[in-house]
Amino acid sequence: MSDAPVLLFDSGIGGLTVLREARVLLPERRFVYVADDAGFPYGGWSEDALSERIVRLFGQLIAEYRPAICIIACNTASTLVLEPLRKAFPEMQFVGTVPAIKPAAECTRSGLVSVLATPGTVRRTYTRDLIQSFASQCHVRLVGSENLAGLAERYIRGDSIDPQDILAEIEPCFVDQNGRKTDIVVLACTHYPFLANRYRSLAPWPVDWLDPAEAIARRAKSLLPVSDGVSEVPDIAVFTSAEPDFAIRRLMSGFGLQFVATQD
Ligand code: DGL
Repeated sequence: MSDAPVLLFDSGIGGLTVLREARVLLPERRFVYVADDAGFPYGGWSEDALSERIVRLFGQLIAEYRPAICIIACNTASTLVLEPLRKAFPEMQFVGTVPAIKPAAECTRSGLVSVLATPGTVRRTYTRDLIQSFASQCHVRLVGSENLAGLAERYIRGDSIDPQDILAEIEPCFVDQNGRKTDIVVLACTHYPFLANRYRSLAPWPVDWLDPAEAIARRAKSLLPVSDGVSEVPDIAVFTSAEPDFAIRRLMSGFGLQFVATQD
């Protein structure tokens, strides 16, 4: 089989929520996990600067790892750079992660849906277009969270997190309007599913927390040829800071990823 890896990209540890689903569906594949932690968080970046940074970074990553496919496991990046990436690297297949607004609009019974995302994703024209194209019959509340991706990073490092800090970020998702209540919250940042159990215990009422990770993994699988063997080469994690702390290195090894440093 071709040993070309699947490259998964995020600004930090969020893409691991997609990696765990991709591993289930593509067990024979080799993975290269790339965290642009030198640029984290992506939520506050200006669009031009972020787009330029990611396209430049992919020039290096594609040349170095020659992936079979690239999964942009980050909503904040996908809603901005999918098009520039496809234009810059027409021979490469990119699978994006964009807010699951269409499935949410199809499944809601109350008609009230919230999209929890970084401030960057909430601002994007791409996100607004998704709402207009697929959810015009719903009431969609966009909630731009300043702190949740950072809280998820801290949680996964083993820091204790005050439940009130999480509640403050998710509370605006809950809308009660004329007896109808939000019934679906779209997790539109790949960092957020790490805290899903916390959301469930803190939520003012039960809702469906929509995580698109499995759908993204399925899409990637559908684009790849069927493999006839199992890769023997270890999966690796690449960090643009070149110096993630001990907790992150331990996390990567828990995910079966060997740490490799790279230059930003
Ligand atoms: N994990 C990223 C996303 O899906 C964003 C985290 C950040 O850099 O703020 O949007």
